[in-house]
Amino acid sequence: MPVVTSNRKLASDVFVLEVEGRFEGQMGQFYMLRGWDDYPLLSRPISIHDIGPNGISFLYRVAGYGTERLARLEAGDSIGLEGPFGNGFPPIDGKVALVGGGMGTAPLLYAAKQLKAADAYLGFSREPFALESFEQAAASVKVNVGGYIVDDLDPSGYDAVFTCGPLPMMRALAKKLEGTGVPLYVSLEKRMACGVGACLVCSCSTKHGNRKVCADGPVFRAEEVELNEEFDVH
Ligand code: FES
Repeated sequence: MPVVTSNRKLASDVFVLEVEGRFEGQMGQFYMLRGWDDYPLLSRPISIHDIGPNGISFLYRVAGYGTERLARLEAGDSIGLEGPFGNGFPPIDGKVALVGGGMGTAPLLYAAKQLKAADAYLGFSREPFALESFEQAAASVKVNVGGYIVDDLDPSGYDAVFTCGPLPMMRALAKKLEGTGVPLYVSLEKRMACGVGACLVCSCSTKHGNRKVCADGPVFRAEEVELNEEFDVH
């Protein structure tokens, strides 16, 4: 079983968990984490924050029993990990803007590392976190605390925009990009059970009919989906 190397608190209720080993995954994919033996039985889907030669990391906010149990893990503890799952962000041969809000910044660090020269736009309602990692990985980093990070983005000059975060932020971004021709890829979050497309818990409606966020997503073209309240808020 994989072993935890560290579980650091970065801000109130926000932790980064590092697990030792060789792991695979593309930007925007996720793993199912299970750091407990009893209740709750289900694993928690958490996006890849980073993968290095010696391990993988996950950024998460404590928001319930499962993540409380994760936060109690210490170096040396073992953890159940399955993945990677989901489709991830597409490879883009050009300039990409990464726009994240709050915990939605989590999958964008690995995207910044996998892309050639991405600019990161990071919005936080309060205490920011993980900024040093983004400064090392992205070509440039803009941070907005308490305001609207979408206002800081000028889409001209970008070949694509990747986003993850609160629905109002992603909706504002979709509106801003309307008519620009710049494709927007959104990473969505929904409650999951199996994580592999078998239980339908995470189904969402798209222009092409119902899709499963875990298996057909979590990344979709923004114009394919209704950015509505059915999705969980980051
Ligand atoms: Fe089971 Fe998506 S979580 S189908």
